[in-house]
Amino acid sequence: MPPVISIADIAQHDGQEVTLRGWVYNRTGKGKLSFIKLRDGSGIAQCVAFKGDLTEEQFEQASKVSQESSVVITGVVKKDERAPGFPGGYELSVKAFEVVQMAHEYPITPKEHGPEFLMDNRHLWVRSSRQWAILRIRSTIINALRSWLDDNGYLLVDTPIITPAAGENTTDLFKLDYFGEPAFLSQTGQLYNEANMMAFGKVYCFGPTFRAEKSKTRRHLIEFWMLEPEMAYFSLEDLMALEETLLAHVIQTVLTKHRAELTDILERDLAPLERAAAAPYPRISYDEAVQRLQTLAAQTDDPEQRDLLKIEWGEDFGSPHETALTQMFDQPVFVYHYPSAVKAFYMQPVDGRPEVCRSVDLLAPEGYGEITGGSERIWDSQLIEERVATIGLPREAYAWYLDLRKFGSVPHAGFGLGVERTVAWVCGLPHVRETIPYARLLNRKYP
Ligand code: 4AD
Ligand code: MG
Repeated sequence: MPPVISIADIAQHDGQEVTLRGWVYNRTGKGKLSFIKLRDGSGIAQCVAFKGDLTEEQFEQASKVSQESSVVITGVVKKDERAPGFPGGYELSVKAFEVVQMAHEYPITPKEHGPEFLMDNRHLWVRSSRQWAILRIRSTIINALRSWLDDNGYLLVDTPIITPAAGENTTDLFKLDYFGEPAFLSQTGQLYNEANMMAFGKVYCFGPTFRAEKSKTRRHLIEFWMLEPEMAYFSLEDLMALEETLLAHVIQTVLTKHRAELTDILERDLAPLERAAAAPYPRISYDEAVQRLQTLAAQTDDPEQRDLLKIEWGEDFGSPHETALTQMFDQPVFVYHYPSAVKAFYMQPVDGRPEVCRSVDLLAPEGYGEITGGSERIWDSQLIEERVATIGLPREAYAWYLDLRKFGSVPHAGFGLGVERTVAWVCGLPHVRETIPYARLLNRKYP
């Protein structure tokens, strides 16, 4: 029996007889030849069936088999530089052909389909090569983030998904009935990270987070995955250094592992990624960012564009502002010291200038905008008590969080990185919906 191999390993079997198991990605044929592009999850290989090499029945099946039928194909691997596929460069001369299940007429064909149709068929769309490439890159990004942290003294400490209180913003919580009491789906693991950081020094959590805000943009998901490191005795400067080191490592890893997917399948321009693969990244204050935007708006001739860029000191950035800012730099850019009023209650005010806080967002280039948000946290007991009271959070629900400031409080800082926005930028996608296997959007929870 020939060995069953993965298409990813086909080059190691040049000249050998092997068995491939997978699905028919595409079939064409003429007379005595049938060309089957087979995908097996690890890659795509062209299999060439010649009538004379197969039984009559097998050749009949090989020349009729429908798109996405499951098949087992045995043949001899042959090097051929022109052979299409992924990795490509090798094809299989078919010696035996078996259909496991003949697929019904497949709804996703090589012709163009609209995004809503594709999202309705997401359970099938994940098989298409673009989606396949994106989700493989997503997996690598998550792995690179986690393994860097694991290798550098950070401990994964899981945080709960069901919580009794808001972590970020009380207005966008999903409410649950917890045996007759209210509870919420977590928006962030941060508050628990702060407790864990006091036990383990450098921690991170990684998990799904939920936002009930009714945003319908290309950057917002209702359910998304966030990586959140939290470190004791960390300053804002330490935080930026960590973020850029971590992100540069992630980009280097993706460029090493997925150059072919990025260029051949996603047609991604690699130059911006190459530039992001080296730290440090530029840093500007919120004040400077506002000035730059105001200058840009004043120089803009198009009144509509000028209107979009308009901003007064104190306002949060919208997408057009972030887009414009990232276009001023050719690397990811840090924007720090945002107005306290537009940020979360736990952010440390700047010494002598409490209207701004020790916060930092990292904006991805090419118009992508915010991919991380973080800050130094208020660590003074009295100040955090005041904040909780002023914004009207229920003290009982936060009692444990307030405790942390009483028992060996320390300056500390952390950030959250949104996996989907990072994947969208790395892959050069216009919308986050393709960056997660099953997107939850304002108007979508199926499939
Ligand atoms: O800026 P955010 O809301 O920060 C926090 O939740 C902090 N508690 C994190 C921390 O300091 N530990 O979210 C962090 C990141 C954003 O920069 C963005 O990348 C992503 O999470 N994000 C979203 N991604 C997709 N859809 C949404 N609705 C998102 N909201 C935030
Ligand atoms: Mg943010």
